[in-house]
Amino acid sequence: MYADRIKSLPPYLFAEIDGIKRKARERGVDVIDLSVGDPDIPTPEHIVREMCEAVKRPANHQYPSYEGKIEFREAVAEWYRDLFGVDLDPSTEILTLIGSKEGLAHAPLAFVNPGDRVLVPDPAYTVYGTAVMFAGGIPESMPLLKKNSFLPDIRSIRARLEQDPNWRPRLIFLNYPNNPTGAVAGLDFFRELVDLAREYGILVMHDNPYSEIYFDGRPPSILQVPGAKDVAVEFHSLSKTYNMTGWRIGMVSGSSRIIEGIGRVKSNIDSGNFGAVQDAGIAALRSPPEIVDGLRSVYRERIGILYSALCDIGLELSKPNATFYLWAWTGGDSREYAKMLLERTGIVVTPGVGFGEHGEGYIRLSVTQPTERIEMAAERLRNL
Ligand SMILES: Cc1ncc(COP(=O)(O)O)c(C=O)c1O
Repeated sequence: MYADRIKSLPPYLFAEIDGIKRKARERGVDVIDLSVGDPDIPTPEHIVREMCEAVKRPANHQYPSYEGKIEFREAVAEWYRDLFGVDLDPSTEILTLIGSKEGLAHAPLAFVNPGDRVLVPDPAYTVYGTAVMFAGGIPESMPLLKKNSFLPDIRSIRARLEQDPNWRPRLIFLNYPNNPTGAVAGLDFFRELVDLAREYGILVMHDNPYSEIYFDGRPPSILQVPGAKDVAVEFHSLSKTYNMTGWRIGMVSGSSRIIEGIGRVKSNIDSGNFGAVQDAGIAALRSPPEIVDGLRSVYRERIGILYSALCDIGLELSKPNATFYLWAWTGGDSREYAKMLLERTGIVVTPGVGFGEHGEGYIRLSVTQPTERIEMAAERLRNL
C-alpha cells in the first residue's frame, strides 16, 4: 500500500517516544518528560494580544501570499541587522516558513536530483536526512564527534573532495547551536565551511533556531561570513526564541537564488501561513530584549540543576553554552539506558541513537519543563 519512500523510513523519533510515555502514564507513572524540546513557558502576552487583534482583520482571512507578508520579512531583516549585523533584502533574501521544519523538509526538493549526495550531520535533527531521501538523494553521514567539539571535520571533507573528483555532494546541512549536542560553532568554522562550499559549488543549509538560547555570548549566524550569501541560507524559527512552537512560523534567509528555489517548491505545495500568525510574529521579532533575557536565565538555572545531578550519578557531559539540551554519555546502549531511566525514575529522555549512529551511547535531556519538575527529576536521578 505504501510508497517505497515511506516504507524505508524509521518511525518519527518523537512519535515513537509518545507511545512509550502514554504506556507509562497508563501504568500510573508520574512521568517527567525531558524528551522533547518544546518550551513549557507560554508565548509572551504582547504576542498573544497582537494575535487576538490580527485574527479580526478581514485581510487575514484570505489566502496569504506565498512568500510571506513583506512586513514580516522586513521585521526579520531588522532582527538580523540588530542581532547579527547582517543585511538582508526582505523582498529577495527572506522567505516566511510554516515553522523551520517545513522549510527544511521542502528545501532538498528544489536542489537534489535522484542519486545526489547530501552531507548530513550525525547525530542530528532527523528531518534533514529524511528530506534528502524524499527528494531521492543519498544522505551521507558527517560524524559529530566529541574529540572535534561536535563539529564536522572540514579538513577530511576537503581532502576527500581533492582526492575524488567523482564525489561532489550537492548540499551540506548544518545546525549550530546544535541539537542534540548543545555544541556551538564559531565564525572561523563557518568561514572555513563557506570557503569550501564556494570552491566546490556546494550549497549550505544552516539551521539556526537556537541562536537566542545562549549562556555565554550570542553564537554567530553563518550569514555573517562575507560571501556566505553566494552559497548559503540560514533557517530560523520563532518557536524556541519566543515560545511559539505551536504557532508554526519561521523563516529562511540568505542566497536569493536558493530562496527562490525553495519558494518555487513551496508555492506548489502550501499557500503560505496565516496572516494573523505573521502579524503576531512581527510583534515577537520586535519584543523588548528583556523577554529573551528572562528566558535565558530560566534555562540557565534549570541546566545547572540537571547538570549537577547527572554528574553526581556518574554520567559524562559538558555544560552547554547554548540550547536547552544536555547531552550525556552513558557508555552503553542508549535505548536500554532510556528504558531503565523510565522504569526506575519515571523520567523520559531521548536515546542518542535516535539522532544517528554517532549518537549511540548518549542520551539527550531537554529542560523545557517547569523548574520544580526539573528539581524533582534531579532528586529522582540522585536516588537512582
Ligand atoms: C535543530 C532543529 N531544527 C528545526 C526544528 C523545528 O522547529 P520549528 O518549530 O521551527 O519547525 C527543531 C525543533 O525541535 C530543531 O531542534
